[in-house]
Amino acid sequence: MDPKAAEATAATSSLGGCQASEQYVASKDGQKGPLIDHAEGQRFLNDTFKVIMEEVLSKGADVKEKVCEWRDPAELRRLLDLELLEDGQPHDHLLQQVKEMVKYSVKTNHPRFYNQLRFLTEALNTSQYTYEVAPVFVLMEDVVLSKLRSLVGWSDGDGIFCPGGSVSNIYAMNLARYRAFPQVKLKGLWSVPRLAVFTSEEGHYSICKAASMQGIGLENVFLVKTNESGCMLPEDLTDKIELAKSQGAVPFLVSATSGTTIHGAFDPLDLIADICEKYGLWMLLGGGGSVLFSKKHRHLMKGIERADSMTWNPHKMLLTGLQCSAFLLKDTTDLLKHCHCANVTYLFQKDKFYDVSFDTGDKSIQCGHKVDCLKLWLMWKAVGTRGLEERVDKAFFYTRYLVQEMKKKEGFQLVTEPQFMNVCFWFIPPSLRGKQNSDYYQERLSKVAPAIKERMVRQGSMMIGYQPQAGRVNFFPMIVHSPQISEQDVHFLLNEIERLGGDL
Ligand SMILES: Cc1ncc(COP(=O)(O)O)c(C=O)c1O
Repeated sequence: MDPKAAEATAATSSLGGCQASEQYVASKDGQKGPLIDHAEGQRFLNDTFKVIMEEVLSKGADVKEKVCEWRDPAELRRLLDLELLEDGQPHDHLLQQVKEMVKYSVKTNHPRFYNQLRFLTEALNTSQYTYEVAPVFVLMEDVVLSKLRSLVGWSDGDGIFCPGGSVSNIYAMNLARYRAFPQVKLKGLWSVPRLAVFTSEEGHYSICKAASMQGIGLENVFLVKTNESGCMLPEDLTDKIELAKSQGAVPFLVSATSGTTIHGAFDPLDLIADICEKYGLWMLLGGGGSVLFSKKHRHLMKGIERADSMTWNPHKMLLTGLQCSAFLLKDTTDLLKHCHCANVTYLFQKDKFYDVSFDTGDKSIQCGHKVDCLKLWLMWKAVGTRGLEERVDKAFFYTRYLVQEMKKKEGFQLVTEPQFMNVCFWFIPPSLRGKQNSDYYQERLSKVAPAIKERMVRQGSMMIGYQPQAGRVNFFPMIVHSPQISEQDVHFLLNEIERLGGDL
């Protein structure tokens, strides 16, 4: 049981509505306080730990007990309440679900569990590869992935939970190449031409890592220019595709982003999709998935349903415990399985006594892998779709509130106007105010953020990163995503930066 996910279940009682407002006034009737009720969270954790102690660690290791309480997939689906609803579920119901989860899961700490990886001792920490060892979680992963896909706008498709957004991007690149050149699986790089990948200057660096790992090469990642706000320029994408072709490379993948890592920019998905369709390229979409929970803000990702795959990181904006990242696909031809399957007979025997289509693990690039779907499922079950929507709306609300309050203060300067939860800003200490035209201004400003950072870390008061970027000297790239943030926190942040940097 992941503590963070369990903690999130406590949110049911205190969820407040996020009201649309031009003025971001965090008043009592606007934002109803923190989304996490720690007392409820602790009660749930205590009760859950009791179940783990008694049912998993004690009973589960008792030789007189069963290693597993086998149920066929259809029956198990009936026995478990896996469905994810609009509203969150109360404490007792959630606890009952935890008990059912334990009951029907394989006890890997049982003395007679002789399967692979017997040494796994964490409670219920089984591996997601076959129905045989992870019956509950195979069904659960299916429910969560299909629910996520429906938010994207895909009624069908495929997907897998994987260890982070970077790995999810590796999946996408591998699949895109396999779709274009299926011979690559058997014959390797000898059988494919020089390939070209496109991402924006603001795109995540994992695209470059994936290209270098997969033998595509960093020089074949074409960086597309962005506008002032950090959004990919479609005209430049077309130019870069033509440039790659003129150099003899074969374009096959465009990586677009919703909510870029630093500036939180949203690429124009419909225009990028038009270009991908024209050139027959795989469109990968990274970031921002959780925005789709919000009816108010999901327009930022308009065109998303036209992407081929999506990298969705609940462990970022929704703060599910690391790691929890979904790779979603529009494909319905089993591409994921064909591309990655190894068909080993010690795990994926075809003559098992149950329907082996439930042995989903051969789609993965890993062998054993964690049951990451549980964290999102439990949080979702606890707070409901509505609760997740409110978290997202709240993050937007407080981002705008922070910006509004920042603009009232003399010493703060935005790098770009925020589109998402990212607020990039400089703090200009009194000694530099009004000196923008002096020779030393940029040089001295570049030292301000590192100095404030050092002070805040040494004093332990806050934690914000800093960085230079694209000719801009060090600034703070701040992300507002904690569901616990309040009006007071926003004012503390601004006052604390003034306090820490006032004498610089
Ligand atoms: C758009 C985007 N893609 C991928 C990643 C990498 O995700 P992870 O840290 O889970 O590997 C990030 C991380 O910030 C990101 O912003």
